[in-house]
Amino acid sequence: MTAKILDGKKMSAEIRAAIKEKVVLLKEKGIVPGLAVILVGDNPASKVYVGQKEKGCLEAGFASFLHRLPETTSQEELLALIDKLNADKTVHGILVQLPLPRQIDPDTVLAAIRPEKDVDGFHPVNIGRLVAGLPASEPCTPKGILRLLKSTGIPLAGKEAVVIGRSNIVGKPVALMLLAESATVTICHSKTADLAEHARRADILVAAIGKPRFVTADMVKEGAVVIDVGINRLEEGLVGDVDYEPVAEKASWITPVPGGVGPMTIAMLLENTLEQAEKTGASGR
Ligand code: GUN
Repeated sequence: MTAKILDGKKMSAEIRAAIKEKVVLLKEKGIVPGLAVILVGDNPASKVYVGQKEKGCLEAGFASFLHRLPETTSQEELLALIDKLNADKTVHGILVQLPLPRQIDPDTVLAAIRPEKDVDGFHPVNIGRLVAGLPASEPCTPKGILRLLKSTGIPLAGKEAVVIGRSNIVGKPVALMLLAESATVTICHSKTADLAEHARRADILVAAIGKPRFVTADMVKEGAVVIDVGINRLEEGLVGDVDYEPVAEKASWITPVPGGVGPMTIAMLLENTLEQAEKTGASGR
């Protein structure tokens, strides 16, 4: 079998075009969706991501409030900025780019964001709501993955889903979201015994470990849907967590890197911000 491509670039462009149209209508009611992004320090990858988020905002017609803070910023200074943005009615979403410098505790910072403005879905309240199966602000990358999976038309209920990686940003939430779709979910990680054996059972295989070409063809069942969340910057260029060409020979669907999951993350961030703007209106409350 040769896999069909799950084209996140195309799908995200369609979603962004639809968002742009909704923004025009919202603006007629005096509401401009506003996203505040906070970048602390000079992490090169973070700079790239934040630039993409700002570009996405501006293209969609959002107000983008980018706060660049120095590497030496104290936790108190960052919390003071979050307080200000929490109270700012022109700001519907707040995103603190991770990782943060070591003098700042990310859990304290994420918990300081008002849960309604937590468009990243990282606040403990939103994580709790996701666990409980209640409506929540959903983390952007997992939300984008679910959107891609649903676009295949393959029912998720009853499928064996194997997630490789247990991060709070991708692995854990995507596993919960697959469970909410009634898939049978296994989470594998660096300590998993016989990881390849688990992977080979997967109808849906999500690779989110940050190791270039970790998932090889012998780990993939014929006809599986393979989602590659990896963005590994090597000298040869961007490489995913999946050994793309040989795996694509076996899979039924596969996401490319770049152009798969990555663009969906930004589209979902814009969608979360738009939804918050629609809910709160011009009051920002
Ligand atoms: N760092 C890597 N991915 C993300 C993300 O989705 N959101 C934030 N805030 N930081 C990140």
